[in-house]
Amino acid sequence: MENFIAHVPTELHFGKGVVDGLGSTALKYGKRALLVYGKGSVLKNGSHKDTKEQLEKNGIEVFEYSGIKPNPVVDDVDAAVKVGQENGVDMVIAVGGGSAIDSAKLISVAIVENCGGWEIMKGERNPIISLPLIAVLTLAATATEMNSVAVIQNHQTMEKIGYRHHTMYPMHSFLDPTYTLSVPRDQTVNGIVDLIAHVLEQYFGQGDASLSDRFSHAIIQEAMEYGPQLLDNPDSYLLRARIMWAATNALNGLTSYGRLNMDGGVHSIGHILSLLYDTAHGATLSIAYPAWMRHLKPRIRERLEKLGENLFNDSSAVNTIEMLEDFFRKLGSPVRLQDVGLGEDKRNELVDRLNKNQCNGRNPDNSLNDSDREAIVDLMLAQ
Ligand code: NZQ
Ligand code: ZN
Repeated sequence: MENFIAHVPTELHFGKGVVDGLGSTALKYGKRALLVYGKGSVLKNGSHKDTKEQLEKNGIEVFEYSGIKPNPVVDDVDAAVKVGQENGVDMVIAVGGGSAIDSAKLISVAIVENCGGWEIMKGERNPIISLPLIAVLTLAATATEMNSVAVIQNHQTMEKIGYRHHTMYPMHSFLDPTYTLSVPRDQTVNGIVDLIAHVLEQYFGQGDASLSDRFSHAIIQEAMEYGPQLLDNPDSYLLRARIMWAATNALNGLTSYGRLNMDGGVHSIGHILSLLYDTAHGATLSIAYPAWMRHLKPRIRERLEKLGENLFNDSSAVNTIEMLEDFFRKLGSPVRLQDVGLGEDKRNELVDRLNKNQCNGRNPDNSLNDSDREAIVDLMLAQ
């Protein structure tokens, strides 16, 4: 077991109606707020209205930046920073899924640093403080609501990367599962896949952490039991709540304490699919994970065996990969590039970009070289 620090400063408000307390919470941070959201889902599910009402009821002036796209881009971050600076905002409020909240994290740092968002993403600044950030989550998937990571893409430099910094924890996150009742089936599936992938990235990380392993098994079991039930009963508050809480715990530190490094290699491959083809994040992972596990099998055999024993009562590494892939397939998530309309004609372009960006995880035992990446692409295309 490795040394670690456990410190998550986000205050999480979970449950029906919790946004009723947002206004009085926000008032502690000032009287002017920049409200950031995506392309309009929040206008339909009540989360934007409830949040804005809360702010205005408490005398907080609201300035808005909307239109953040899924797989968010740095250009939106820079434009939103301008709106925030011009209006002298005291805080940033994000309403939506990972894309809106990740953008808001970077906005809250860049407003104070007075610089382009990409400089921060590339680690070229050393931020000390950020504007307080409050998140209202409407999609169970990323755990951004309780971590310090932002994932943003840049089409000028052809990168989609993550950046982690302690100034980017939301001060408060409001999680009302009611807002997720409107999430369509495909995004619900993406979220379930994403949360499982987050647990796996840490499971295949470096170092031995038995309690984290047990948390990992439990979170995946929660997703495997309640995920399919939720798809059959999308209006169930209880099932939405279970998946929402599982997703938060999948990447808030719980499954990584005691490990040295998470892996993250599959995410870095998935990010290239999003960058090149705008593939939804969850979909990239159900395609890349089985291929990555098949290729890395000789190096991760023991981990696969332990995972299989605990999830499927079957300690065969091969069967574990097949059963996980089968689970993704049954959810309706793509497991090959062809399932999202990408064929052999994209092979070389994809291999080239993965190699140019040196996509890799952080566990040195699973480190990928050019020929590994090429083999993984072929497995993602295998019939
Ligand atoms: O844009 P709007 O209109 O809001 O619609 C969104 C979007 O089209 C819609 N949506 C959100 N809540 C909804 C809803 N539709 C109906 N009802 C609701 N309640 O769903 C679509 C996807 O939204 P998005 O925010 O992009 O999804 P998600 O939460 O999966 O976030 C994905 C982004 O997060 C990054 C991904 O790479 C991707 O860019 N990640 C962030 C991480 C982190 N910060 O820790 C870790 C993850 O591994 C991931 O990389
Ligand atoms: Zn993810």
